[in-house]
Amino acid sequence: MAIIRTYTDEQDWIAASVQAITGSLEQDIRDNDASSLALSGGSTPYPIYQQLGTEPVLWEQVSLISVDERFVPADDPEYNWAKIVSALGEELIARVKRTCAFTYAASREESLRVVEDCLPDRPGIVVLGMGTDGHIASLFPGQPFGDNRTVVATTAPDSYETQERMSLSADYILSAQKIVLLLKGDSKANAVDILMDQEYPAEQFPATLILDHPDCEIHWLREG
Ligand code: 6PG
Repeated sequence: MAIIRTYTDEQDWIAASVQAITGSLEQDIRDNDASSLALSGGSTPYPIYQQLGTEPVLWEQVSLISVDERFVPADDPEYNWAKIVSALGEELIARVKRTCAFTYAASREESLRVVEDCLPDRPGIVVLGMGTDGHIASLFPGQPFGDNRTVVATTAPDSYETQERMSLSADYILSAQKIVLLLKGDSKANAVDILMDQEYPAEQFPATLILDHPDCEIHWLREG
């Protein structure tokens, strides 16, 4: 069952979230000589990624993976991976074993295939955010989860700036050794209640998928 921890101090939230990630990376590297870290975009995780960039992890043994992406050119403000790379810092990016990131290819299917061919069999640690509608990655209510595949093309609701999305599939995310869900702000309170009370099935509230993961931590920075 997922463990939820709440914070009112941002530094405490950052430190605990970074430790949850680096602790699992280091254990995976000790056990398997390699690990992988799948990172979400959105607006929440960047202070944690900035701190990660200063951590003494054996990044040479870590593969970085994009959790999901909007089907836009790399110079588009909506493009997640550019923001993730910027937050992690050039030194870390130069050291990592390899990077599997969705790009604006000739088609979404081509971009999915490139990532699919790059992915490790299972991810080490997957870092997620959650929308107020319960979406994780780009797995939105009523959208396909990508059964029997590691990646999936989805469509975000019209309320989002970019509807054409590419995402790791639910199966692939759930095969991770560890899931870390990062939340910030009391605007997520209603979604957290729905999640923890398991009010809706995953098809209606996709974050429900992670509740039964054997090693899932939720770190939520509240406003006070
Ligand atoms: C994205 C993310 C998405 C994000 C949630 C939460 O492409 O936007 O991958 O799944 O994690 O929408 O976003 P916030 O962190 O902005 O609340």
